[in-house]
Formats: sequence, C-alpha cells, structure tokens
Amino acid sequence: MNLLLDTFEFGLHTQIHYGIGRLNELGAILKNYDLDRVLICTDPGIAQSGVLEKVEGILQKSEIQYTVFKEVEPDPTLEVIGKVKQLFLDHQCQALIGLGGGSSIDTAKGASAAVANPGDLGQYEGKNKLPNRGPDIIAIPTTAGTGSEVTHATVLKDTQRQYKMGILSQHLHPKAAILDPELLTTLPRGLAAITGMDALSHAIESYTSNQAQPITEALGLHAIRLIGKNLRPFVARRTDIEAASQMMLASTIAGAAFIWGRVAAVHALSHPLGGRYKIPHGLANSILLPVVMEFNVSSNFEKFKEIAILLGEDVSGLSLRDAAYRSVTAVKNLVEDLEIHATLSANNVKLSPEELQVVAQEAFDSGIALANPKAVSVQDLKKILEKAL
Ligand SMILES: [Fe+2]
Repeated sequence: MNLLLDTFEFGLHTQIHYGIGRLNELGAILKNYDLDRVLICTDPGIAQSGVLEKVEGILQKSEIQYTVFKEVEPDPTLEVIGKVKQLFLDHQCQALIGLGGGSSIDTAKGASAAVANPGDLGQYEGKNKLPNRGPDIIAIPTTAGTGSEVTHATVLKDTQRQYKMGILSQHLHPKAAILDPELLTTLPRGLAAITGMDALSHAIESYTSNQAQPITEALGLHAIRLIGKNLRPFVARRTDIEAASQMMLASTIAGAAFIWGRVAAVHALSHPLGGRYKIPHGLANSILLPVVMEFNVSSNFEKFKEIAILLGEDVSGLSLRDAAYRSVTAVKNLVEDLEIHATLSANNVKLSPEELQVVAQEAFDSGIALANPKAVSVQDLKKILEKAL
C-alpha cells in the first residue's frame, strides 16, 4: 500500500469484555445495554458441557429472562435460522446471545438479520446488501478460531443448493463480545486444533491479502505471533490458561484483521468444500492453508519471510526467497504437530475431476479469492485443490 496515494477504512464496532471469569458479569453487561429478555443460540455440545447451565444460572441471578435454542448445527442452515427467528418473535426477545463456536454466533447473526429484513436471506448474499440492522447480538465464543465475535460476516448454508453463502454487513457486528478464556478449557483437543488453524488462516490471509492496510497488517502479524507461540501448548493441554488466554485473544485479533483485510483463496475453497462435503471449516482451512501459501509466496517474499519468523523458523543465513518458503514448512509442521490429517483423502474426501471443477468454479464465483495476493483463475483453484487431495 502506498500511503501517499491510497486510502483505507478501519473500524471495530464490537465492545470487547475480556478477562478470566468475565462470563460471571454477563447479567451486569446485558443490563448495562438495557437488555433483559434474550434468546441464547447454542449447540448440543455446549448444552452438555455444563457451560449453558452456568450461563442460565448467571442470567437467573440477574433476573434476566431468557429462552434457549440449543440445536445449532455445524454450518447453520437457512431453515434453522427461520426456527430461531420464530422463537425470538414468540418470546418477544430483545437480543440474541451466540454462545459457542462460529456456528452458534453465526446463527445469532443470521436470526438477527432475519428478524429485521424481509424474505429469504439468500437475497442478501455478498457485501452490504442487508438493508436493516436487527436486534443486538452478544457473542460469547467458546472456541479460539472463528473471530465471528467481532466480524461483520455470517456464513449460512442453503441446503437445497448445498451452498455456503457469506452475508457481509455493518449490521451484523455483535454489539459486545465476552472473551472469557476459561470457556476454552473444556474444548475437545481436535476442535482446539482445527479452530486454531482457522484463526491462523484469518491472520495469514488478511496479512498477505491485496486488501491489507497498515492496521490490519499490525493485527494480523500479532495474531500470527500469538498463534505461533501458543497453539501447540493450548492444543496439548486446554487447561493451560495462559495459552488459552493468548489463543482467545489471537482469534479475536485475527477476526478484527480480516473484517477489513479480508480472507482469500483458502476461504474461497473451504466454503464449497464445507457446503458440499461437510468438511469442518477449520479442517478444510488446515489442509488448504499450506497449499495456498505455497502458491502465493512469490507475490511477496518479505511478508512470507516475516510469517516464517513469527512461526518460529530460524531463517538466518537464508536467501529472502528461501526464508519466505520456510513459512510454508512452518505451517506444514504445525498441522503435523497438531495431529491434523493433512489431505482431503486422509479425511475420507475424494473428489472426481468433475467435482474438482465444480468446487473450483464455485470458489471463483464467490469472489472471496479476489483478495488473494496472487490473482487466481478457476484453473489455479483447481490445481490448488488437486494438491490438497
Ligand atoms: Fe474462517
């Protein structure tokens, strides 16, 4: 970016309440926003883990009325959003709480949009097409990955088309996010690994994207640094509260980075893979990230060298090019250390040549890859997928 010629925008519209044990302040925080009737969106795993029970206890103590929807699914569908909207209206709620990973928060965002905007949400796919701001959203993440607690995006699935769509709008920013690292300590190991890799994908894609600007670069770099230091110890032992705290912050910081810095080819491809083959978002990103980085390295050796250093590679004595390629090695090693199966076929996903073409075309048509540092064609996306098989 040329600061003498170019312009950029940046804003973060979500109030962040960070701290170990801050979940206990949920009632006070809601009252501060004049909210006393809320709908909680969460998933069966959170309901069974005891976290939902804890939240209910806190709300009861604060005399806040609440309704619970605990059937959030991975990749929330438009049908589920319709159900949550109806529940919200039936109980005359004022706000939605997204309690869980990205799917719970995105369900809350989708339902907020559905309450305030007429017709099928599919018509609002894309950037800034949502006319009205809906009821407030309070995000309480229980994974360190999505960044959805601060972003303006919700990713919803149209089951009829087997299609994952992104709705991006200033109206979707949560009003507040409660970041309590204690909520990460019960996260299953496999989920901690792939959601952490999602956060790393946000940080690396936004830092290297052609939409990067000084503020998103600063956020992306710091998120990469935090993830490089803390993802392994966090996955090894989620009760390591220091590592959990740093990962929770890294995830939110990477989210703030990609609101404006955007994500690119990794996310362009992981959406159709999730929509068509139900590959969890973080897993698809873990597989795609090193392959896409290898494709992109030549676009900016300096930036990729910086990533290599922040991920712990010793690049002393190496040429700039060799140092930059070490970033790919670093991510491959990280995936291996986290015990993530590094290919699609190792995760029982096999794509025929026709299916590769369909996924690559869908990824291209979404426009997400427009932010990729190296311009990508459908053919390029197909080659990337072939390497990920
Ligand atoms: Fe993501």
